[in-house]
Amino acid sequence: MTEHQIALIPGDGIGVDVTQAAMKVLQAVAGMESFTLHTGTFPWSCAYYHETGAMIPQDGIETLRGFDAIFLGAVGWPESVPDAVSLHGLLLPIRKAFDQYANIRPHRLLPGVEGPLKSGAFDILCIRENTEGEYAGAGGRVHQGRDNEVAVQTSIFTRQGVERILRFGFEQAQARRGHLTSVTKSNAQQYSMVFWDEMTRALAAEYPDVTVSHVHIDAMAAKMVMNPENLDVIVASNLFGDILTDLGAAIQGGLGFAASANICPDRSAPSMFEPVHGSAPDIAGKGIANPIAAIWSGAMMLRHLGEDRAADRVEKAIAETTGQGIGIRPGSHGTDEITDAVIAAMKG
Ligand code: NAD
Ligand code: IPM
Ligand code: MN
Repeated sequence: MTEHQIALIPGDGIGVDVTQAAMKVLQAVAGMESFTLHTGTFPWSCAYYHETGAMIPQDGIETLRGFDAIFLGAVGWPESVPDAVSLHGLLLPIRKAFDQYANIRPHRLLPGVEGPLKSGAFDILCIRENTEGEYAGAGGRVHQGRDNEVAVQTSIFTRQGVERILRFGFEQAQARRGHLTSVTKSNAQQYSMVFWDEMTRALAAEYPDVTVSHVHIDAMAAKMVMNPENLDVIVASNLFGDILTDLGAAIQGGLGFAASANICPDRSAPSMFEPVHGSAPDIAGKGIANPIAAIWSGAMMLRHLGEDRAADRVEKAIAETTGQGIGIRPGSHGTDEITDAVIAAMKG
């Protein structure tokens, strides 16, 4: 029997509820499809920070390296730990250390879910650069607190980093409907984004079966609301991809539906799977977090592990569940109710 080693990091707030829900579904499908998921659970979170003074132990990254995949809930509890501390202490270092440069975020309407848009179905795959760009962590502050204070946050775009994410986007487009939309802001950002545009044009010659559009981030925000049905694969920098994927979540009915995979494409290190949403302090502890985003992210993890049949089964069950009107509106069903409905649909 195939065995997979999964590192579980529930994190903070609803991260704990949704990872528990998703693992229940994943263990159920593992039983049905005859493979084993072994899990190691790591309590790294803001509570852990209060206990130990760090978000992860010193050897935390090395510990994770031994797993086949990482499944994460959400990190952040801004009331007690500044976000810049918790996210730079846990989530962002994992993406970087394991070279998970391709962040894949699918946006489509599940059956029964009424998104806020009147237009029909859409099926968008957002590919977000995940290790550099605006998240490079370069910069600093001088004269802190004084009238002449200056804060600098530098974006870093390397040829290697831009090329590999663009190639990833082109390949995804080839495997889908053959259209790639590259999102930049090259009218205002004359170095990084003009470089990105040039790289896109140069690479396009190698992918003649893919049609490419260049759209600025501001126009893209409007396009995703006005004409999402015309979009196939989107490729964007770290920050632009971050923002567009919350917008993608909104048009697919809310953050409770948006799944995400942080992929290390050459498989030299584990990839990480997590919903797009955060720890949602406003609904934490209430049992009403929608687990579908986390369950769908779990299906993406199964596919990455080569368990395609199980992944199909989970995705089909999610669609059946929402098709029955379960979990389609915020608060209409509890986390457990939705989870149990997905498991029942898999059995059915
Ligand atoms: P958020 O995604 O946690 O919440 C935004 C809104 O969406 C809230 O109203 C919330 O109730 C709702 N929501 C989110 N997920 C939901 C779900 N599954 N079901 C129902 N409703 C849901 O964003 P935020 O409030 O900006 O961030 C809260 C904390 O999470 C911050 O510390 C932030 O930095 C962190 N965060 C972490 C991650 C991550 O770990 N990947 C992602 C985003 C935000
Ligand atoms: C996401 C989150 C993170 C990001 C934050 C919490 C650092 O918003 O995964 O989308 O910006 O990447
Ligand atoms: Mn985000």
